[in-house]
Amino acid sequence: MRKILVTSALPYANGSIHLGHLVEYIQTDIWVRFQKMQGNITYYICADDTHGTPIMLMAEKEKISPEKLVENMYKEHARDFKDFQINFDNFYSTNSSENKELSEDIYKALVKNNKILEKEIEQFYDSDKDMFLPDRFIKGKCPKCNAEDQYGDSCEVCGSTYNPTDLINPYSVLTGSSPIKKKTKHYFFKLSECSDFLLKWTKSGTLQKEASNKLDEWFKSGLSDWDISRDSPYFGFEIPDAPGKYFYVWLDAPIGYMASFKNFAKKMNLSFDDFWKDEKKSELIHFIGKDILYFHALFWPATLEFSNFRKPTKIFAHGFLTVNGEKMSKSRGTFITARSYLDSIKNTDFLRYYYSSKLNDSMEDIDLNFNDFISKVNSDLVGKLINIPSRTSGFIVKYFKNKLVSKKVFLDKDYSNLLNEIVNLKEEVNSLYEQRLFSKLVKLLMSHVEKLNEFISAKEPWILAKDESQHVDNSELHHICSVCLHAFRAIIIYMSPITPDLSLKISIFFNEQPYELFDDVKSESLMINKYEHLMKRLDLSDIDKMLKDK
Ligand code: 2FM
Ligand code: ZN
Repeated sequence: MRKILVTSALPYANGSIHLGHLVEYIQTDIWVRFQKMQGNITYYICADDTHGTPIMLMAEKEKISPEKLVENMYKEHARDFKDFQINFDNFYSTNSSENKELSEDIYKALVKNNKILEKEIEQFYDSDKDMFLPDRFIKGKCPKCNAEDQYGDSCEVCGSTYNPTDLINPYSVLTGSSPIKKKTKHYFFKLSECSDFLLKWTKSGTLQKEASNKLDEWFKSGLSDWDISRDSPYFGFEIPDAPGKYFYVWLDAPIGYMASFKNFAKKMNLSFDDFWKDEKKSELIHFIGKDILYFHALFWPATLEFSNFRKPTKIFAHGFLTVNGEKMSKSRGTFITARSYLDSIKNTDFLRYYYSSKLNDSMEDIDLNFNDFISKVNSDLVGKLINIPSRTSGFIVKYFKNKLVSKKVFLDKDYSNLLNEIVNLKEEVNSLYEQRLFSKLVKLLMSHVEKLNEFISAKEPWILAKDESQHVDNSELHHICSVCLHAFRAIIIYMSPITPDLSLKISIFFNEQPYELFDDVKSESLMINKYEHLMKRLDLSDIDKMLKDK
């Protein structure tokens, strides 16, 4: 049995969860549920990413403390995740005592291993606000193409990247004043010394091919030392023996994975070291978006290596979400929060199913196209999948006192084959889930759903039902409806990680406990309840409501 610790990237505590975020949480949650349904010991760990200048300034604007801001946001995030069936084993905060202690310990270990460099640098300073300005808080004319109002790190017009001090006529986004250049001491992690280790580590099967190619580009252009400190005022952890200096948020954020696990391990009486010290005892898997690959594939393993912790087993990077083919955007009205989806469409299995039908193991972007979303949900889930019990269960209730024929006694070989073909998909289903080939998996299961519907259409149970001699146990009508319902149950069990809500409802329909293992396909339940309408068709008006609900 495997022991697996799985993480999703920590959401920033200064914004709501939106449908773009959910690509990752849904992808990870499905993978974790699958691992659990195989019987593997799996923990899904996350936390809010709470530190940094934007959060500090947002709190200031709202006239509350940053602690209060992150507390409020935590509640909102936790509720959104719960309502989307994102089943974290622990959802914590980077602003925690565990994280402070671990960040300090890791920093001290890096110092001891001679991986920290102190260096005086020159940075822009806003004298009106009395603070150093992060790149994103400085704007000016692009030094390459002269475009106005470009950020301090890159130009959105010509795409070039540069240092904020290269900007022409720079100004502070906070006060509009011209920043002055000021010297300050900073602490750097000597990433430039980690190339040998990183080259070896990144080639050890931890990364997808596309990610590994991206890294080759970075290795070619050379690794620079990484500035891990920020000056006061800053919301974060103060660096030991360096008053007024704070850890940059990206130093303590991934350590938040450890801290959240530490908090969980204490509650559950688990060994922290089994998951963070010894690579042989467990797997460590990070799901991330492709935009934060640099942090997870370079900074993070190097930080762990030189502070004597284990390294990740795999990093699974995914692409971004586009909506109707374009970047999700507030001005286009396509910036959709988790909450507006929940308030309007309500059914979260729909989005989970739709994303699954598009997701694979690559870093390609996926598109949420509203028309495609409506037609896929209505045709596959409502039209085909749910159609199976709605076409067959009524006869079982009406003529057979809710009781199915046991699958052990199907006399007709074709019936047994139809069912066994589905039950025996287990290996293939496992392999597709394991590789994150969810779109292939959905296609495979839907092809069997179609077969079942064709079987029902060919057998026409509603015609048989007109004949009273069929209203006795073990009649053909009884067998046809029973085989379809057994097969439907097996498909639902295989789909449980993707559509957990539906799975729960179907377990109730079959008078059973929630399905927890794929091995549940081997057993059977013979008493069904009256079929209640399970899913409402999706309508364009639901989408309109979601887009209006801001
Ligand atoms: O990019 C982001 O949204 C970050 N908050 C992700 C942090 S992931 C981890 F390293 F903490
Ligand atoms: Zn430019």
